Amino acid sequence: MTSAPLKKLNDGTQIPQLGLGVFQLDNDAAHRATLAAFEAGYRHVDTAAIYRNEVGVGRAIAESGLSRDEIFVTTKLWNKAQGRENARVGISRSLEKLGLDSVDLYLIHWPCPAAGRYAETWEQMIDFRSEGLTRSIGVSNFLPEHLDTIVDETGIAPSVNQIELHPTFQPDDLINHCSDLGVVVECWSPLGQAADLEHPEILAIAETTGATAAQVIIRWHLNRGFVVIPKSANPERIRSNFAALDVTLSSGQMETIDGLNAGNRVGADPATVEP
Ligand code: A2P
Repeated sequence: MTSAPLKKLNDGTQIPQLGLGVFQLDNDAAHRATLAAFEAGYRHVDTAAIYRNEVGVGRAIAESGLSRDEIFVTTKLWNKAQGRENARVGISRSLEKLGLDSVDLYLIHWPCPAAGRYAETWEQMIDFRSEGLTRSIGVSNFLPEHLDTIVDETGIAPSVNQIELHPTFQPDDLINHCSDLGVVVECWSPLGQAADLEHPEILAIAETTGATAAQVIIRWHLNRGFVVIPKSANPERIRSNFAALDVTLSSGQMETIDGLNAGNRVGADPATVEP
């Protein structure tokens, strides 16, 4: 069975470059989707405390028949749980719901800059890693100034920054800043919540290559070196998205997609999201 390429993180561990996102799925749907994904060959699932589906994901992990070290599990600390004491409760609850002793990657979900607690929370994340509660630590939705603050204050860069990124929303300055700091970029809403699937240039490349529009976009993310976690509740689309691993894009097709940035944000702006 095909497996996703592994991407090296700055702490020496590795992350499968293609995973399943389970945003907006309830426990039962997340359970079904995660099992379908494992069957299709995925070994990486990305959830969050705020998705309220860690129990469903955990059930799928337990029932999968896969050993723990074959699966890469990410979850995220919710905004209200930032701060030293709250964060410890946050990770304990997530581990309990997932039925795991540790996750592979734990992320601060949003910086919430006005609350002013993300740097203190990052110090706590470093402790969680030392204690073995998570193998790697990272952040999500951090802008360059937030990354600089935590690196300046602790000397430790996150392994991953999970950000909104898809063909019509390519935050180049942030991508370059992550690269300068050795932070792997992971893309949420990699299909632009399906909107980018309708883009005429994507449809044209899909037509030429015989791949689906989703496969074209996922292959573009992989070729760019990003970690990508397309969400789907549908087993057929989950399988088909994984088959993006077998798609090839020419350098010209890559350049065409590189040129589609239009600032089309589909999610919230990290500068203004607060608890
Ligand atoms: P569904 O869950 O019904 O498959 P993103 O990951 O960018 O947030 O996009 C998720 C959205 O894209 C969901 O609405 C999902 O719907 C849809 N989607 C995921 N994969 C495909 C696909 N291969 N073809 C069409 N729509 C897809």
